[in-house]
Amino acid sequence: MRVTVLSGAGISAESGVPTFRDDKNGLWARFDPYELSSTQGWHKNPERVWGWYLWRHYLVADVEPNAGHRAIAAWQDHAEVTVVTQNVDDLHERAGSTAVHHLHGSLFEFRCDRCDMDYTGPLPRMAEPALEVEPPVCHCGGLIRPDIVWFGEALPDEPWQRAVEATQSADVMVVVGTSAIVYPAAGLPDLALSRGTIVVEVNPEPTPLTRSATISIREGASQALPELLQRLPALLK
Ligand code: APR
Repeated sequence: MRVTVLSGAGISAESGVPTFRDDKNGLWARFDPYELSSTQGWHKNPERVWGWYLWRHYLVADVEPNAGHRAIAAWQDHAEVTVVTQNVDDLHERAGSTAVHHLHGSLFEFRCDRCDMDYTGPLPRMAEPALEVEPPVCHCGGLIRPDIVWFGEALPDEPWQRAVEATQSADVMVVVGTSAIVYPAAGLPDLALSRGTIVVEVNPEPTPLTRSATISIREGASQALPELLQRLPALLK
């Protein structure tokens, strides 16, 4: 059986990574997410954007994958599993998933905003999050930015192609922890459904996908996923 998983911030929430739309208490809560995650916001205040991503970089490095990530990795013993994730953390990989495609980039990769060169140099170590931090400067004079897909930016070609292929070849698609509103990722379950593929949604809240999904399981990822593979045959009857 070929299983393609589309994951979003909800699966990492139980590891302590605040979802983008839920982080009301953080230092950056009073800023519009658009200001922190757009090229426009970056040009306006690169120090703030860099401070925010550096904080998320260290936060993610300090947390662990949860039972949801681990369950998906364990499915590999019984099925051909491909993970397509909108998350910029590395928790699927650390749980042991081997085929993971990041549609929105990674908190652990950086590049120059001018010449596009990868940056592997030092990052400031910070005991406390800081609202504004100076980003490193590239040898070309450009600023080093996180290699993350910001609002209005195109998705990287390769992971997107892999995501479409994995969607087209899936027997079952499991959509977990995503509000299913950010395109083009949100179009993948529609593509699967249009091909007659079974789509299982796992989310404690209803989303725009809920009505069209074959099955919607209204539970958290760490509760639903460990049992899901065994439950599938009965659920799909
Ligand atoms: N298990 C499963 N789902 C959960 C859990 C949980 N324990 N907790 C919360 N959720 C659900 C929420 O109900 C919500 O539908 O996870 C979803 C999180 O939604 P978003 O914060 O919108 O995250 P996501 O869908 O990944 O956002 C997509 O938008 O912000 C941009 O580029 C960013 O990749 C991100 C994209």
